[in-house]
Amino acid sequence: MKVVLGSGAYHMAEEVKMKAGEYNKEVLDVEIKKFPDGEKYVRVLGEGKEAVVVQSTFNPQDEHLIELLLLGDALRERGFEHLKAVVPYLAYSRQDRVTKEGEPISVRAVMRALGIYYDELYVFDLHNPKTLEYFPGRAVNLSPARAIAEYFGEKLGEGLVLAPDKGALERAKAVAELLGLEFSYFEKKRISPTEVQMTPVEVDVSGKNVLIVDDIISTGGTMVKAANILREMGAGKIFVVATHGVFAEGAIERVSKAVDELAVTNTIPTPVSRISLVEDILKL
Ligand code: R5P
Repeated sequence: MKVVLGSGAYHMAEEVKMKAGEYNKEVLDVEIKKFPDGEKYVRVLGEGKEAVVVQSTFNPQDEHLIELLLLGDALRERGFEHLKAVVPYLAYSRQDRVTKEGEPISVRAVMRALGIYYDELYVFDLHNPKTLEYFPGRAVNLSPARAIAEYFGEKLGEGLVLAPDKGALERAKAVAELLGLEFSYFEKKRISPTEVQMTPVEVDVSGKNVLIVDDIISTGGTMVKAANILREMGAGKIFVVATHGVFAEGAIERVSKAVDELAVTNTIPTPVSRISLVEDILKL
């Protein structure tokens, strides 16, 4: 099985190259550059029948998406028969409904387009897993729980795993179960794009280390609020983790100041992307 890295996965390249052999995979060389007018150019420099194309789609997400389509076309042209797309962070995944007449369901458009070339689609912690139905082939939502549990297990000790809202409860539960720890959640209500109201549920955190687990950190408002409440409740160390670090300006600093450690996975490269999902990807 060949592994192809798009430019949205270059931050994983070193680790992928080092570990590919352990998973019976071989990295296939591709040339990726831009034409003078800014359009993307890709060229597959090898052969094979099956390939896993790894391409995360963060800013500039549209370029990453186009590249993923071009790689799909180039691999088919080169005779590849079975293609898996691994898109650790899928752009447009939050545009999953029509809120004003005339809008598209953008995630559907993206998934359908990928389905032209790819037989299978793998993403991590998709905003709305139901939207996987829009992909015409096999589509799987992967959990980062193993990697998160490995990273924070020792630091957390006999602590607690917490979801900042009920929607994130399954995520917190998955990490907690791997570590054999308790889990709980906060009731969260969004008042405005930058303000959230949070109510603690019945849980004793005094003196306990707490890991708050969410899918995305954007402004950091959710995590800061949860961390402040936990401090007032007498928690020990407070760690926060999210799958996707879609950080708005200043968010890393804001969250870091409020907690003992902030870490996210490497679906998007950021200064705090300390948790690698490469091994989960190479298993596919
Ligand atoms: C919302 O439902 C998500 O799970 C996250 O809690 C949210 O996107 C975090 O956003 P922010 O960092 O801006 O509070």
